[in-house]
Amino acid sequence: MKVIVTGAKGQLGSALVKNAPAGFEIIPLTRKNFDLRETDRLKQFLQDTRPDVVINTAAFHNTERCEEMPKDTMIVNSMIPSFMADMVGDWGGIFAFISTDYVFNGQKRGEPYYEDDEPDPINIYGLSKNTGEYGVKLLNSRHYIFRTSSLFGKTSKPLGNFVLRILDRARRENILRVVNDIFITPSYTNDVSLRIWEVIQNKSPFGIYHVANSGTTSWFDFAVEIVKLAGLKVEVIPISYQESNSKLRRPKWSPLGSKKLPPLRHWKEALKEYMDEL
Ligand SMILES: NC(=O)c1ccc[n+]([C@@H]2O[C@H](COP(=O)([O-])OP(=O)(O)OC[C@H]3O[C@@H](n4cnc5c(N)ncnc54)[C@H](OP(=O)(O)O)[C@@H]3O)[C@@H](O)[C@H]2O)c1
Repeated sequence: MKVIVTGAKGQLGSALVKNAPAGFEIIPLTRKNFDLRETDRLKQFLQDTRPDVVINTAAFHNTERCEEMPKDTMIVNSMIPSFMADMVGDWGGIFAFISTDYVFNGQKRGEPYYEDDEPDPINIYGLSKNTGEYGVKLLNSRHYIFRTSSLFGKTSKPLGNFVLRILDRARRENILRVVNDIFITPSYTNDVSLRIWEVIQNKSPFGIYHVANSGTTSWFDFAVEIVKLAGLKVEVIPISYQESNSKLRRPKWSPLGSKKLPPLRHWKEALKEYMDEL
């Protein structure tokens, strides 16, 4: 089985490459090969390679910048994935699209969002991913849509995830103010990648899957746990999202749960493993 992984140098892409099952031929595609927006090169590459599966992790996901750059956001997160899904469908290839909890509006309470909850994005990033989901579904029936949330894991970027950003701030500041009214499921790329491979390897029915660690937390409690595990003596103070002065509309509640897959381990256990390896 020949599998292209896009965004292969990213957090999730590199975990997918590392954890690929034996016998799978992995073709990592990174920005160094070419920018996916170079559609002629992309088309040629797909035609030459004729992969059985494409797992598309590459995305424009800096949510604040997405608001300023809606065209680039839509191209990278909606149009390119739809184009790839359509192309690989020509030879019966499977397209796996990595999507996000940000397709939801965040108004649910008390329980996580499940696969059959209705998306209703409230910012450009969420909209672009939701449109990408539609494109992929329409253009290739042999698709997987894996929605995940608040990723942390091995990254080549010094501040490439929330954990590293909190550690960096905690080493430079005496007091950290962190938002306590946004709720998420932090998810470890290692666990998410293994579950994605399981779904593909098991030839699970095509469709949408939520893949996130178990548990729900606020950004504040997530930060408290990071600081505690690192043994840092910094004071973490809860603030509201409004107090953070961000103009971006974010879902206030976007934990993910699955009705189709067994639960992954709790995010705290996964976080400990990740931080032990830092
Ligand atoms: N991170 C999260 O908290 C989170 C939460 C929910 C869902 N997701 C989704 O999960 C997926 C993986 O996220 P991640 O955290 O692993 O992202 P990441 O670490 O930023 O990796 C994404 C990779 O894609 C590459 N890429 C982006 N645009 C490209 C383009 N036009 N052409 C070629 N390569 C391009 C990036 O290269 P550069 O670094 O050079 O740009 C990067 O190596 C994404 O689809 C994201 O939307 C992420």
